Amino acid sequence: MKFKIGVLPGDGIGPEIVDQAIKVLDAVAKKYNHNFEYTHAWVGAVAIDKTGNPYPDETHEVCMNSDAVLFGAIGDPKYDNDPKAKVRPEQGLLAMRKKLGLYANIRPVATFPSLISKSPLRKDIVEGADLVVIRELTGGIYFGDKGRSEDQKKAFDTCTYTTEEIERIINLAYTYARKRDKRLTVVDKANVLATSRLWREVSQALEANNKDVAVDYMFVDNAAMQLIQWPKKFDVMVTENMFGDILSDEASVITGSLGLLPSASVGIHTSVFEPIHGSYPQAAGKDIANPLATVLSAAMLLESLNLTSEAKAIRDVVNKSMEAGIVTVDIAGDGKAYKTSEVGDWLAQNV
Ligand code: IPM
Ligand code: MG
Repeated sequence: MKFKIGVLPGDGIGPEIVDQAIKVLDAVAKKYNHNFEYTHAWVGAVAIDKTGNPYPDETHEVCMNSDAVLFGAIGDPKYDNDPKAKVRPEQGLLAMRKKLGLYANIRPVATFPSLISKSPLRKDIVEGADLVVIRELTGGIYFGDKGRSEDQKKAFDTCTYTTEEIERIINLAYTYARKRDKRLTVVDKANVLATSRLWREVSQALEANNKDVAVDYMFVDNAAMQLIQWPKKFDVMVTENMFGDILSDEASVITGSLGLLPSASVGIHTSVFEPIHGSYPQAAGKDIANPLATVLSAAMLLESLNLTSEAKAIRDVVNKSMEAGIVTVDIAGDGKAYKTSEVGDWLAQNV
C-alpha cells in the first residue's frame, strides 16, 4: 500500500535520529511491499532561521496532506537563555499541536528486560511496569491567557478547560484502558484548582458509560510519588497538559533512558509521532544520540495506519538490537557504544 509520511526533523539531534527511523521504515516498506512517500518540512529553530516562523504554513500544509507525521525534536540553546526572545522554537510545536487539533498525547512506558539494570530505580520496583500516560495536549495553562502587567512587575498564565475538552480526552483514555488492563487513573489537583474540580466532575459523570473499566482519582503530587514508588500499580493514567508534561518525563526514568520512549499525538487531523526527549543540542551532529525512541515512534506511526505486523517487526528488531548490545553510548554501559547511524543500519538490515 501507499502512504504519505510528513517528516519534520526539527532541531539538534532531530535530523540524525529521524534519518535512522526512515532507514528502518524503508526496510519495512521493502519487506512488506509498501510505498512510503516522504515529504520533509521545517519546524522549530531551523524554521525560524529559514522563514522567521517556527511552524510555517508550508509545513502545516505538508502535515495536513500526509497520512501521518514523523517528528524529531525542537529547541535550540540560543533561545533558552534569552527570555526576551519574541519568537521561540517551542511555539512551533504548540502551534502544530493546536492547528492539527492534537488534543491527546499518548506516552507508553514499558521496561525492556535487557535494560532493567539501567533504571536508577530498584529492579523489583520497575520490572514488569507497563503503563500509558495520556496527556491532554491543546488546553490548560499552555494555551490560556498569559501576559505581563504594564509595569512588568507581574506575570500571569491562565489554566482553562471546557467540559468538551475534558470529555473527549477522558473518553479516549477509557478506550485505551479497555484495550489494556481496564484500569484508569485520573490525575488532578481537585483539592485546589477549579479546572481540576471540573475534570473530576466530568470524569465522574462518564463512569456510568464505562463500568467495565476500574477508575480511580489521584492528586498530582501523590501520583508523582506513587509513580516512582509503585509504577506497576498503574495501567492508564490521564491528566491535563502541564501535569502530563511533568509526569511523563518522570515516568521515563522507569525505563532507564529517556532515549527509549516514543509518543503519539492524536486528535482531529493528522497524527504526529515523536520521541519524548528533546533536541539534545550538545550531541547534535556527533552521531551519538539514541535513535530508538524515534524508531519506536515510527512503530506507533505504522500502527496508526493499521500496519500492525509491520509495527511489531520494528519493536522486535529494537528488542533484538538491545539484546545484542547494538546500542548507543547512553545505554552501552561497559559494552561497546555504537554510533547513531550504525544502530540505524543494523536495525534496517535486521528488520
Ligand atoms: C514535550 C516538551 C514540550 C512541552 C516543550 C518542548 C514545549 O517538553 O513535548 O513534552 O512542554 O510540551
Ligand atoms: Mg515535556
